[in-house]
Amino acid sequence: MENRKVFLITGASSGIGEATARLAVKDGYRVVLAARSTSKLEALKDELGSDTALAIACDVSDWNAQRRLIDRALESFGRIDVVFANAGFSKGSPFYGGKDKPDEWKEMVLTNVYGSAVTARLALPELVKTGGHFLITGSVVGHITSIRNLYSATKWAVTGIAQAVRNEMVGTGIRVTLIEPGVVDTPFWGAVPKPGTPELHPDDVARAVMYAVSQPPHVDVNQVLIRPTGQPH
Ligand SMILES: NC(=O)c1ccc[n+]([C@@H]2O[C@H](COP(=O)([O-])OP(=O)(O)OC[C@H]3O[C@@H](n4cnc5c(N)ncnc54)[C@H](OP(=O)(O)O)[C@@H]3O)[C@@H](O)[C@H]2O)c1
Repeated sequence: MENRKVFLITGASSGIGEATARLAVKDGYRVVLAARSTSKLEALKDELGSDTALAIACDVSDWNAQRRLIDRALESFGRIDVVFANAGFSKGSPFYGGKDKPDEWKEMVLTNVYGSAVTARLALPELVKTGGHFLITGSVVGHITSIRNLYSATKWAVTGIAQAVRNEMVGTGIRVTLIEPGVVDTPFWGAVPKPGTPELHPDDVARAVMYAVSQPPHVDVNQVLIRPTGQPH
């Protein structure tokens, strides 16, 4: 009976999630890779090995898709030990001006806020069974006031989700870590203008994730706020 621990990552097709998947496998985990881009997930699964990685197409804004994600992870690997709710993006954030685009904000709020909350709701019962770890990707802008930015507000909501889940899970042994990156060089910036400040590499954030996960069970790293050196406040 295979007993390697299982690490499930949403937003695993790219950037921070992809880098975390590679480090998790290096640390001995099997990984469940979730995102919408099937071809990228399949390529990563092939690289990591099909006895070690499972690729599952999943739009986190869809409850039923996330239900299938958890069910398929359990069918294939039998357990879930770590869940990283990391899927997210920024698009059309300013409040003032701009063209009418009725669904632009909906997609972002449904992914960043609702999607992360659904991941928690569906994964926590499995993490209770394994004494597991829930991590969620917020942002520096979920910690400071950022102007012109509904994206920032979605990340404030993520900060709230992390704190609420941690409170709710007191007594279960589950650990909850909020990962709050500053600017990271990923395709995230394809949709919004880059600030032109120093940048982290996705591996820098992945190492912070693995630091939190690799602590002894009595140590709950509550949050990791990680900026590139020299990024202004
Ligand atoms: N890069 C930065 O500077 C920065 C800073 C702070 C926080 N963050 C946060 O870090 C997280 C990861 O972003 P990243 O920088 O690694 O950017 P990225 O390379 O663009 O990765 C975003 C990931 O989220 C997935 N995703 C987006 N919408 C999804 C949906 N509806 N359902 C499932 N998966 C979805 C994408 O895959 P598919 O498109 O294939 O679905 C992709 O795998 C995000 O939550 C982002 O807000 C990034």
